[in-house]
Amino acid sequence: MPRMHDFLLYGAGQLLTCSNPGKGPKRGKSLSDPGIVTDGAIAVSGGVISAVGARADVERIIGSSRVERVIDAGGRVVMPGWVDAHTHAVFSRYRADEYDARIRGVGYLEIERRGGGIKRTVREVREMSEQRLFEVSRRRLAKILEGGTTTIEIKSGYGLDLENELKMLRVIARLGRELPLDVVPSFMGAHQKPPGSEGGAYVRTVIDEMIPAVAREGLAEFVDVFCESGVFTLEETEEILSAARAHGLGLKIHADEITPQGGAELAARLGARSAEHLTKISPAGLAALASSDTIAVLLPGTTFGLGSRQFAPAREMIDRGAAVALATDFNPGSAPSCSMPFAIAVACSQMRMTAAEAVNAATVNAAFAVGRGERAGSLEKGKQADFVGYDVEDYREIPSRAGTNHAVVVVKSGAVAWERPSFEAASEVGL
Ligand code: NIG
Ligand code: FE
Repeated sequence: MPRMHDFLLYGAGQLLTCSNPGKGPKRGKSLSDPGIVTDGAIAVSGGVISAVGARADVERIIGSSRVERVIDAGGRVVMPGWVDAHTHAVFSRYRADEYDARIRGVGYLEIERRGGGIKRTVREVREMSEQRLFEVSRRRLAKILEGGTTTIEIKSGYGLDLENELKMLRVIARLGRELPLDVVPSFMGAHQKPPGSEGGAYVRTVIDEMIPAVAREGLAEFVDVFCESGVFTLEETEEILSAARAHGLGLKIHADEITPQGGAELAARLGARSAEHLTKISPAGLAALASSDTIAVLLPGTTFGLGSRQFAPAREMIDRGAAVALATDFNPGSAPSCSMPFAIAVACSQMRMTAAEAVNAATVNAAFAVGRGERAGSLEKGKQADFVGYDVEDYREIPSRAGTNHAVVVVKSGAVAWERPSFEAASEVGL
């Protein structure tokens, strides 16, 4: 019987594969290679890529097998769906007034002291029903999908008690079940110490009650801790992550964001999957990360959103061989942009990453940062058919022309998850 293909996409002016077969995240020189194929094609069968590469090769491989749907990419750029490796996308409402306050010179920690920041979102999330929290988050994720993101990590951390942390994690799980996006859940009960709690007692609650419950219910793949002055100390972070490891969960750290705490060194020493933020990483932290398997997840949109000029030292990290990924940090306060093209635009202009490095960091490396490197993040035979068509001729237009959503089609596991209505008529490609 001839094989059936869900579809064949051909005519990609630049097909970016971002592939690094069997070699884990990209580092150094390989990060500069987005694996461009001109006149590229992708064949998809059972939601998985059955052939990818030059059109003639793909057509030869699929031979006479029946194809359900054929898409002509018309010379556009086609690339892997973005993997947003760090978000806080389940929340109540945006805190746009804090954006204004920061512009007027009020610091991030000062906003916290005034009852704003994370604590404010915690109050609101606690008051929200699970159903309503799901509904507001579902709408956000639908928009995120339109931007070309097909895998997203979402952290809890606006509940800060067992009941509300579990509520957030159930919402995160349901988003993954009901939307055409892969959702990776991280438990972040250690995002803050809850108002009115005695710090040490809360750490015990996280370790003795929350992590066991989350693990028992299978609601998280990773545990993340905000290791920061006035939040969780290095010792507390290590204690919490050791408990996480004992329960079979992966480790992540919000490390060295506002002040250098040794979070990067700790992440490397514990063999954490990732260390995230790293704006204030120390020279010792950088050296430790560069020679480890821990992935540096950088969040330039946060630095931009906070109005700071001190970005994470991406260039130095890459040049010293660290595995660098990029993500949005999408949250209601410090980083309210959920756009991956925006994040990579800031990475290029402010951290001096090349467009090629940024694209790899936001796809294949980001997939490894959330434990999905074997099936998402690059266009390779056998991987999930997750990709985006952009109405641009050169992939470097994605960061350089950020601010407009140029995505025209988003494919998730071989099915069209979103398509811009009548995009052909408005297209700028191939004129
Ligand atoms: O990653 N740094 C800690 N947490 C978030 C901020 C979340 C919020 O402001 O609501 C972050 O930037
Ligand atoms: Fe964060």
